Amino acid sequence: MVTSVALSNGMRMPQIGLGVYLVTDVEVCEASVETALNDGYRLIDTAVLYRNERAVGRGIRASGVPRDDILLTTKIWPSDYGYDKARAAVAGSLERLDCGPIDLMLLHQSVGDILGAWKALEKEVEEGTVRAIGVSNFRVQDLERLLPNARITPVVDQVELHPHWQQPELLPYLAAHGIQPEAWYPLGHGSAKLLAEPAIASAAAAHGRSPVQVILRWHVQRGIVAIPKSTNPGHITANLDVFDFALTDAEMAGIDALGRDRPMFRAPRWMLAASAPLMRARPLP
Ligand SMILES: NC(=O)c1ccc[n+]([C@@H]2O[C@H](COP(=O)([O-])OP(=O)(O)OC[C@H]3O[C@@H](n4cnc5c(N)ncnc54)[C@H](OP(=O)(O)O)[C@@H]3O)[C@@H](O)[C@H]2O)c1
Repeated sequence: MVTSVALSNGMRMPQIGLGVYLVTDVEVCEASVETALNDGYRLIDTAVLYRNERAVGRGIRASGVPRDDILLTTKIWPSDYGYDKARAAVAGSLERLDCGPIDLMLLHQSVGDILGAWKALEKEVEEGTVRAIGVSNFRVQDLERLLPNARITPVVDQVELHPHWQQPELLPYLAAHGIQPEAWYPLGHGSAKLLAEPAIASAAAAHGRSPVQVILRWHVQRGIVAIPKSTNPGHITANLDVFDFALTDAEMAGIDALGRDRPMFRAPRWMLAASAPLMRARPLP
């Protein structure tokens, strides 16, 4: 049974979902979403940046899983920040996904006219086109700017989070403000070094599980939501199969001790520019 966490607006969020970053082949994307939903996934994570919202919407419809049972997340990119542009961006996502209201819309990065974009998202919630709103890649200082100006507190902050980068400063701040942490790169982007860590390998051997399953279980036991990406049907199935065993306190502590002092991902310069030209270069599929 997939466990879920309560968000500050009362919605519940499954602790494991499917991420579709870099899954730009529309048929592969659609099939992965359909497979995941038929396996029992109820959380799907996309973004305008991933250029696959239409395929995600098709996968959801093809699965036959009732739409109300699914928590669908997408994100808007900083080149669409500011009140008017953000409202147009939400309209674009609604049209491409073609799945009714968006369950969770995130600001993808903490650059540009964040406050204007946030006001737009608050308006979308008021109008019922979006059910919940949150942020991604917001550090403590970004949240300190947003929160005093927000009528609605973000329900989640989706950030890089895995045993090699555990967000030691951010997580206590999120807990204090009732913001749910959500892990991108939950497997360290499949890092071989992470998967080979002795603390993870020994827990995997002890429980008869794979290192990937041990890492996902570690997220679950820490109360994190994780969105591993896979297009491999066997991996998609295995990644949800982490709810019938538990890591011991000693195993958890062994993985906690793997934390390093910097993230794995270094954002390239274009990504942190307030208006990334990439988003305008080609029309979205
Ligand atoms: N908000 C942001 O800025 C941001 C940034 C990055 C990512 N994200 C989100 O987070 C999601 C996950 O991040 P990610 O895709 O970069 O990294 P990830 O989920 O940590 O790792 C994905 C890699 O692990 C492999 N993998 C998955 N399950 C496996 C299994 N059971 N056994 C062996 N290998 C396995 C995948 O390969 P296979 O496909 O072959 O299984 C893929 O190479 C993204 O898809 C996206 O939705 C958000």
